[in-house]
Amino acid sequence: MTTPQNILAFAASSSSTSINKSLVTHAANVLKAELLPSAQITTLDLNDFEMPIFSVDREQAGGIPEQAQTFFKAIGDSDALLISYAEHNGSYSSAFKNVFDWCSRINAEVFQNKPMIIMSSSPGPYGASNVLKTANDSAGFFAADIRGSLSVPNFYDTFDTENGKLSDDKLSAELRTQLAKLV
Ligand SMILES: Cc1cc2nc3c(=O)[nH]c(=O)nc-3n(C[C@H](O)[C@H](O)[C@H](O)COP(=O)(O)O)c2cc1C
Repeated sequence: MTTPQNILAFAASSSSTSINKSLVTHAANVLKAELLPSAQITTLDLNDFEMPIFSVDREQAGGIPEQAQTFFKAIGDSDALLISYAEHNGSYSSAFKNVFDWCSRINAEVFQNKPMIIMSSSPGPYGASNVLKTANDSAGFFAADIRGSLSVPNFYDTFDTENGKLSDDKLSAELRTQLAKLV
C-alpha cells in the first residue's frame, strides 16, 4: 500500500458540540503527529453540506445538489478517510444519512475504495456501537475499505474535552493500533 498523504476527516454529525468531531479531530492529530507527519488533513463539517431531504422526486426534478457533488469529490480526492459516527436511535444521524443518500445517487460506491478508519462515540456505555456495526457490515456495498474501527464509550469519562484527547489509556493505545493500519 502506498502511504496516504491526503487524509479526509469528518464526524457524521451536524452538532456544533459534536463529541464525534472531537474524537475524529483527535484521531487526525495523532495520525499526523505520530504516524504521517507529511500528511495533509482536511476536515469537513456536515453543516456545509445541508441539502433538501433526499427523495427520488426531488432528484428527478432538480438533479443532484452541488453539495453532494462536492462531498463525493472530496472523498475521491483523498487517499484515506477518518470518520466518527454519531448514533441517533441506533443508526446514522439524519444529517449524515442525507449526505450519504444523495452521494449514493452519484455512485453507490460512495467511499471509492479509500482505506478508512471508522470510529464512534456516545456518552453512554455502548459507545454508539450500533451505528459502527452498521457502517462495518455495509462496507462492501459502498466500496468502503475499512482497515480499522474504534468505539469510544462513556465519552465524558474517557475523553479530556479541555485538551481534546482521549484520557483513557486503553482506548488511547487502541486508537493508535487502529490508526497504524492506515500506514
Ligand atoms: C435524536 C437522538 C437519538 C439518540 N440515540 C442514541 C442511540 O441510539 N444510541 C446512543 O448511544 N446515543 C444516542 N443518542 C445520544 C448521542 O450519542 C449523543 O447525543 C452524542 O453526543 C451524539 O454524537 P455527536 O455529539 O457527535 O452528535 C441520541 C441523541 C439524540 C439527539
